[in-house]
Amino acid sequence: MHSKFDASVYEPLCSEDNTQSDLMELVCTQKRLRKIIYCLSGALVVLLISNLAFITKLNGAKHAAPAQEAVEYEVVKFHAGPLNNEPDDIYSGPPSPAVDQAWRELYEFSAIHVTPDIASKLANNSEKMYNETESIVGIDVFHQLHCLNKIRKALSPEHYGKEVTESKEVHAAHINHCLNSIRQSLQCGADISTVPFNVQPLEFSSHPILVPTFNVIHTCRNFRKLQEWTRYRWTGELLDEE
Ligand SMILES: *[C@@H]1O[C@H](CO)[C@@H](O)[C@H](O)[C@H]1NC(C)=O
Ligand SMILES: *[C@@H]1O[C@H](CO)[C@@H](O)[C@H](O)[C@H]1NC(C)=O
Repeated sequence: MHSKFDASVYEPLCSEDNTQSDLMELVCTQKRLRKIIYCLSGALVVLLISNLAFITKLNGAKHAAPAQEAVEYEVVKFHAGPLNNEPDDIYSGPPSPAVDQAWRELYEFSAIHVTPDIASKLANNSEKMYNETESIVGIDVFHQLHCLNKIRKALSPEHYGKEVTESKEVHAAHINHCLNSIRQSLQCGADISTVPFNVQPLEFSSHPILVPTFNVIHTCRNFRKLQEWTRYRWTGELLDEE
């Protein structure tokens, strides 16, 4: 609200129509120009400050990801399984040595050694190994896969129960950690591929219904390439099954 003594109250009102005198027109054009310049410089200052803040934040939080050099994108058709009338694949079948091996091979090579130069650029410190110069770091996708496999096994205690060497409490805490870890990883990666809905006849429904169709195309980081990159830098340590 304007105060009683606000000078702008007494300035001529500039309207959009052409009923103004030439002098008024000039004054009003100047006013409009001034307004535009003020707005632009204001926007520029805000942009500069936010950019500075952004750069400072990035510099403040070191977050190098050495595997960035292995990132390559590819198109992958997901496997949906019986829900979309497909047979199980090797990862989704009932427990068997073949299924176990397929899962284990996903995260066989998970920890790599990095040079002091790379280690110094990482967000968090990691212990040195070998000759006391190289540090050991895990690549998280393999940890997530290990976690998912642990949950898979926990769902079939009659088959895998005897494998569990942890106490009941530690095992429960581990499963809980795994669930929450995978949740955060999914949110972190945030796959934005689209899931179409289609009318499908379903076994458990007497009439066709609209269901999400999951055996569709996603844009993914090339997992096999990342696996190869990791295997090449592998520490030789196998991730503990427990
Ligand atoms: C890792 O680094 C972040 C950012 O500096 C820090 O907040 C966090 O506590 C660190 N984690 C550990 C386990 O030190
Ligand atoms: C330290 O060990 C790594 C892994 O074995 C090796 O590649 C590197 O050359 C070694 N560095 C030194 C200074 O010995």
